Amino acid sequence: MAITTPTSRPMNPRFSSGPCAKPPAYDLTKLAIAPLGRSHRAAPGKAKLLEAIETTREILGVPADYKIGIVPASDTGAYEMAMWTMLGERPAEMVAWESFGAGWVTDAVKQLKIEHTVHTADYGQIVDMASINYDNDVCFTWNGTTSGVRMSSGDVIPSDRKGLTLCDATSAAFAMDLPWDKLDVTTFSWQKVLGGEAAHGMLILSPRAVERLENYTPAWPLPKIFRLTKGGKLIEGIFKGETINTPSMLCVEDYLLALDWAKSVGGLQGLIGRADANTAAIAKFVQDHDWIDFLATDPATRSNTSVCLKFTDDRITDGAAFAKAVAKHLADEDVALDVGAYRDAPPGLRIWCGGTVETSDIEAMLPWLAWAFETGINA
Ligand SMILES: Cc1ncc(COP(=O)(O)O)c(C=O)c1O
Repeated sequence: MAITTPTSRPMNPRFSSGPCAKPPAYDLTKLAIAPLGRSHRAAPGKAKLLEAIETTREILGVPADYKIGIVPASDTGAYEMAMWTMLGERPAEMVAWESFGAGWVTDAVKQLKIEHTVHTADYGQIVDMASINYDNDVCFTWNGTTSGVRMSSGDVIPSDRKGLTLCDATSAAFAMDLPWDKLDVTTFSWQKVLGGEAAHGMLILSPRAVERLENYTPAWPLPKIFRLTKGGKLIEGIFKGETINTPSMLCVEDYLLALDWAKSVGGLQGLIGRADANTAAIAKFVQDHDWIDFLATDPATRSNTSVCLKFTDDRITDGAAFAKAVAKHLADEDVALDVGAYRDAPPGLRIWCGGTVETSDIEAMLPWLAWAFETGINA
């Protein structure tokens, strides 16, 4: 069968799941207003950091009594800071359905060695979140970036829980509605949905999380970079932009630019709409082709950011080699970069659909995916 080479290409072939595509029309010269070479403790730097915190609050709808801090080491830094400072006061329910969640399980089990119960599900599935004991602390990932499986809502999390919920929302924030009343700790990184720079993490704390911090001292030592309290009181400055150590003001400026863009497309609902439209374009393609499917088995749990796909054609004998060849073919043609499945995930593709990606680019890329599949299967 003749394989037709598509005639048009995506304007932007960047579909990586992190760092993710910059907002459309990104312009480096707009960063020139960053207070570079100035102390982050001087008034202009502090003002920028506070603006980053408060604009995050505004766009994400974070309640006024929740604290938002900019902390070191991206999402990993923020999430580990929460685990190391808050866990151990009571047993933990460690929940994972892909590799990043599994990493947090390892931390609790092998590093912190706290009393725990582990709940896992295979790639493509989700843990039954109604079966968890919420009197314990619960650690989970809202959107499993490497499986494309997400929580459909937080309805099953009880409002009167005794434990804290610690949610890694790095590939969910700015693309999904997060139920703040059900989340005590929420973390994300700028490099994900808004296409910002890595390096800094965002740590969002409910009043109950702050209460835990002020009334519980873990049995283990805490490095300076993790310390959120002094003399049993929250270090309030961290949540006003007085960062623990020196942040990159260039990254801060870049994040402010991304937040501005987010507002220009309608804020959170605009961003969700863009991610949903991207995912819908892929869903239509999947429906029209019988050789590809979502890794997520339940449509209600399908991610609208890290969309993970698997090849289902019986003629494929080595699934991993086939998927890698397709991803390489797409990258070689410069029509889709970094779309191979995550190294620990089942073979397939992972196409980032967050709001910084244009639907027209997804639509222009998909005929190339069909072309790469046909080329590979007929090789
Ligand atoms: C769910 C999840 N958690 C944590 C991380 C690690 O993020 P970072 O490298 O920003 O620390 C990632 C990165 O892709 C992720 O997807």
